Amino acid sequence: MNKKTVLSGMRPTGKLHLGHWVGAIANWVRLEKEYKCFFMVADWHALMSDYEHPANIKENSLEVVKDWLACGIDPEKSTIFIQSRVPEHLELAMVFSLLTPLGWLERCTTYKEQLRELKGRMLATYGFLGYPVLQTADIALYNADSVPVGMDQLPHLELAREIIRKFHKLYKKNIFVEPKPILTAVPKLVGIDNRKMSKSYNNSINLSDSQETLKKKVFSMYTDPKRTRADIPGKVEGNPVFIYHDLFNRDLEQVKELKKRYQAGGVGDVEVKDKLYQALNRFLEPIRQKRESFSDLKVQEILVKGTEQAALVAKKTMTKVKTCLHLG
Ligand code: TRP
Repeated sequence: MNKKTVLSGMRPTGKLHLGHWVGAIANWVRLEKEYKCFFMVADWHALMSDYEHPANIKENSLEVVKDWLACGIDPEKSTIFIQSRVPEHLELAMVFSLLTPLGWLERCTTYKEQLRELKGRMLATYGFLGYPVLQTADIALYNADSVPVGMDQLPHLELAREIIRKFHKLYKKNIFVEPKPILTAVPKLVGIDNRKMSKSYNNSINLSDSQETLKKKVFSMYTDPKRTRADIPGKVEGNPVFIYHDLFNRDLEQVKELKKRYQAGGVGDVEVKDKLYQALNRFLEPIRQKRESFSDLKVQEILVKGTEQAALVAKKTMTKVKTCLHLG
């Protein structure tokens, strides 16, 4: 009866790709069976790093939710909602911002990295510095004890625990739980060009890619660069084509046999890629079909219901917070 609570979120930056599936969604679908889950579209967080281009955020949010649903996230089991529709996120972030020392945020490795990496954007802003403060509010509002995240988000969870501890110490009331990460076992998925899969690198395979697009992408994939001919023995480890075979080809015998021939110089790239294309297509086809079954209207309905459920919990938490602060 007393299920533990999970909260996780994704920024709506566009269509989701296989990296999102491996790194998050596959995990979410499993967690949904055991936990009370809140899955949130972090649209405020998306705006923090791209506030100059807000035009697509609403559409992207819808697409993200469609991708989740297509992968099997069940709106009857989990609460799916959009962060900006529950104003308590900003309210609690304000409270946490009061007690978060600047040094904690400035030292944050993710912040420093993004400032360096995202060139051409002016990110030395008050809002962006506070990114992990809002993330803490997201988690604390629902009293989530577990937060499924990738390695890159660990500093944010550590910060969340510190902020919550500080709140408890200052106001002498323990109203939150300290959240723990649930780490995804699989490291970041490589893109078709052997760099990290990312929308900005244009190297991703999207969950909603058509058969033709998928084929084109798989056949342009990076493989062992030393293998200029089919009879040259190739390297399987770290080879994106085989990383994908291992993750997505359910015909384990076929993968084993392909690897053996590849290492012996007994198979051409075309065959290896064609089999990968077939396997990925078998994996993506049910997702594509399920995606089609959700109209925009249906997704909107799911979000309205999800927002209501989320708001109910969020409001209760804010009432407690305000009592601690002698507000309202
Ligand atoms: N920062 C997360 C990311 O970029 C997204 C996010 C926002 C999140 N709020 C959250 C993740 C709360 C977990 C919990 O991946």
